[in-house]
Amino acid sequence: MFLVTGSTGSLGRRIVRELREKDESVRAFVRLFSDYKELETREASIFVGDLREDKDIEKACVGVKYIISSHGSDKDAEALDYRANINLIDAAIKNNVEHFVYISVLGVDRGYQDSQVFRAKRETEKYLMASGLNYTILRPSGFANNLLPLAERFRDTGFYLLIGDPKNRSSIISTDDLAKIAIDSVKVTGALNKILPVGGPEILKRKDVPKIFGKVFKQEPIIINPPLLLLDGVKSVLGLFDSQTEKGLNTLRTLLANEFFITAEEVANLESIYDMKLESLEDFIIRYLGNNSEND
Ligand SMILES: NC(=O)c1ccc[n+]([C@@H]2O[C@H](COP(=O)([O-])OP(=O)(O)OC[C@H]3O[C@@H](n4cnc5c(N)ncnc54)[C@H](OP(=O)(O)O)[C@@H]3O)[C@@H](O)[C@H]2O)c1
Repeated sequence: MFLVTGSTGSLGRRIVRELREKDESVRAFVRLFSDYKELETREASIFVGDLREDKDIEKACVGVKYIISSHGSDKDAEALDYRANINLIDAAIKNNVEHFVYISVLGVDRGYQDSQVFRAKRETEKYLMASGLNYTILRPSGFANNLLPLAERFRDTGFYLLIGDPKNRSSIISTDDLAKIAIDSVKVTGALNKILPVGGPEILKRKDVPKIFGKVFKQEPIIINPPLLLLDGVKSVLGLFDSQTEKGLNTLRTLLANEFFITAEEVANLESIYDMKLESLEDFIIRYLGNNSEND
């Protein structure tokens, strides 16, 4: 039995879908008021709880063989990116879990002090590595599904909002590929006790994204490119009213101000470990939006 946290999220729901398609048994950790109908339809076993509650984590881990931690921080990195994961790791040890897969983030080891999420994830990684559990730490770049709403807006209006430096590079990962990688990590020997940077097959400059949309939807992009300073202004104003939101924006700023890509060697390494061909951003967009297929 797999325990999947964050199973109503962009990545987690794909992990549960894929596991159920393989007929694997899954315990999906969900919050009471989340929309988990799809998981029920796929016959995942639903565990209703809150990752802020130690007791819920303890109960959810009983009898599971594998844990995939793919929940988000919900504006509270300390409670969710750090404490909930430490509790999951402790419960995994107690229950003799065979393998723990942790979704971290690319660049987590660069010491970005402004981002609580990056700091919490790095400390979680260290705790997991020292735990004695079998583990795989995946450090993904940005998920392709994040771009679907922007692609839809582009399709409908031709506009694309590009914040920050158009020349910044990233390697967007197909969220479906990442789900497969997370699942296969429990059995593939090349992933055992490894930290793996995960990205898509190509290094894209930020300005390449609207070009790809333009190609897919056959229209010339109209790019709006506000400087990062604009975000700083918004951040300061919001900070006067809501410090949690301001902290969340620090992580967004870290993501927008820096480059997050993996090298050609790292792509080849991933494809070889997981015996797969990584999907390009163009193919991901076409698969979801190109021919009126089901949306995310
Ligand atoms: N998105 C990216 O581009 C990206 C890039 C690199 C790494 N990552 C990492 O990848 C992981 C998955 O990201 P994602 O984009 O799939 O996240 P997401 O779509 O924001 O989903 C977050 C999930 O966490 C759950 N969650 C939040 N607080 C919870 C709580 N207190 N108790 C139980 N569940 C809770 C949410 O449940 P509800 O449905 O109830 O809200 C949801 O299922 C995260 O660790 C993220 O940091 C993401």
